[in-house]
Amino acid sequence: MCGIMGYVGPQQAAPILLDGLRRLEYRGYDSAGVAVTNGDIDVRKAEGKIDRLADLLNSSPLVGTIGIGHTRWATHGEPSDVNAHPHTDPSGEFVVVHNGIIENFQSLREELEDLGHGFMSETDTEILAHLVAREYDGDLRAAVRAAVAKAEGAYALVVMTKREPGKIVAVRRISPLIVGLGDGETFLASDIPAVLHRTRDFLIVEDGELVVVTEDGAQIEKIEGGVIDREVMHVDWDAEQAEKGGFEHFMLKEIHEQPAVVTETLAGRLDEYGNAWLEDVKFDDEFARDFDELWITACGTAYHAGLVGKEIFRRLLRIPTNVEYAHEMRYNDPLISAKSLTVAISQSGETADTLAAARLAKERGSRLLALTNVVGSTLSREADDILYTRAGPEISVASTKAYLAMLIAQYLLALRIGRVRGVVDEDLAGRVAHGLSQLPAQVEELLHQESEISAAAEAIVDADDVYFIGRGLDYAVAMEGSLKLKEISYLHSEAMPAGELKHGTLALITEGTPVIVVLTQQALYDKTISAVQEVKARGGKVIAVAYEDDDQIHKFAHRVLRVPRADDLLGPVAAVVPLQLLAYHVARLRGHDIDQPRNLAKSVTVE
Ligand code: G6P
Repeated sequence: MCGIMGYVGPQQAAPILLDGLRRLEYRGYDSAGVAVTNGDIDVRKAEGKIDRLADLLNSSPLVGTIGIGHTRWATHGEPSDVNAHPHTDPSGEFVVVHNGIIENFQSLREELEDLGHGFMSETDTEILAHLVAREYDGDLRAAVRAAVAKAEGAYALVVMTKREPGKIVAVRRISPLIVGLGDGETFLASDIPAVLHRTRDFLIVEDGELVVVTEDGAQIEKIEGGVIDREVMHVDWDAEQAEKGGFEHFMLKEIHEQPAVVTETLAGRLDEYGNAWLEDVKFDDEFARDFDELWITACGTAYHAGLVGKEIFRRLLRIPTNVEYAHEMRYNDPLISAKSLTVAISQSGETADTLAAARLAKERGSRLLALTNVVGSTLSREADDILYTRAGPEISVASTKAYLAMLIAQYLLALRIGRVRGVVDEDLAGRVAHGLSQLPAQVEELLHQESEISAAAEAIVDADDVYFIGRGLDYAVAMEGSLKLKEISYLHSEAMPAGELKHGTLALITEGTPVIVVLTQQALYDKTISAVQEVKARGGKVIAVAYEDDDQIHKFAHRVLRVPRADDLLGPVAAVVPLQLLAYHVARLRGHDIDQPRNLAKSVTVE
């Protein structure tokens, strides 16, 4: 996720900006840059680590006391010097940095090109610099307002112009922005840790607000106008806590980022009728209509996302779909048709086994689609098509938000293909689109059930073994819930289809054995309840994940974790969140290193 810095005050801006950007490194980035005004606007930027930018600033210093800076995590356009922020308008009088995505970037760019504008970079950001400059008529604040009225999406935008020195104007639409209040100097940043060593007094810019920053402080207004009286927040956190946004662990922070992640993954890609536009999925309609089988390959959590994908594709597309662990597929001589599509799923895009399986699929003539979170990763470079998940950097080893984004991306892919093949009619497409649009609010609601989840965690914390069951999509979610629990709590756990329990594992269910059942699939509800009855009859302790209006489940379950009612097809998205939180709370009670579990690595780049 990009990092933003701004400074207005009496000191030289460049070193302060650079220092702030270093403190935002934990957010992940692939290039960095700063711009300073001093009569003119000067920009220095470089692909790669901040040290490269620092070298550039050493050899070619920037003088001036007002500036903006940025670390970029590529979304539109590969990581490069040119695509790095800041970006200026053609006159070089206006300069911007931005975090997030401009959804209608393509149409805005075309409009501007028709008016004769040329662009240096492939970014959506550069368009904003052009837009602000075009709208400028002596008032930067008004120009920024007019520009953002045209730019749809979830983003934070920071603008500076040599025409109004001493001032930075910024806007927040979802992507975070804070103001640090110093003594005769003011800081702007995407996150508190950037400036926590310089001030402890902050103004939080909320969604839908604009802020004008000067050395005397900041004025916050609604984007549409109207001054807001924001209370100063005094922060006592230490730097490490601040990086985690006040959460105790990155995993918890990332779980809480999920509503915003769902919004980002969907942004600009889906209309209300279920038509999906996937910018880097290049195959044409003919391919979408004609391919005859789908392969999904991945490892770990990404594999579990693929299990959900298999069911989505099977149900929506009626295409034979195989999902294989990449480390198995690479050696099991898979019978891949040359008319197939292979979807390789990988958060990092660098997992060695996944790369090997993806290459094998390509060798056998399959078209390769990379579903990944990291722009420019090896997998994305080798693929024919790319579907970026846009979850932002994930720091906790146990994956949460990246998994959720992988699910959302697969719904989008299924809609894209299904509409072309004519197997997803308007009604169904509209229903899925509507369900997807509800998800950010539903996931948000789930994050506020900490007390029920803590109680469920207490109920299993001392167990020796925990079992997860479900049918269909619920089984896929059960697999991920079980993996989360074992990764960070080190409790032994196993997931299985509910119907499989009686074929062996039931022998292990005795008085008090925890069994977690996922129950979002209404068509299979009664069947799954039969398995729950078998558990209950042996004294097992049942914890159910069930819809909020399920009025039967309390008869069978020891505890119930409620999820908002959703279309069965979208059930997994809501159901996984309580399981992530459950794993988190069990691990916390057991006192483990949650973000860095023993023996595990975030990205496994060796076989
Ligand atoms: C490692 C991580 C897992 C991850 C898996 C696949 O095992 O610990 O959390 O799911 O790799 O990683 P990828 O980057 O390919 O999604």
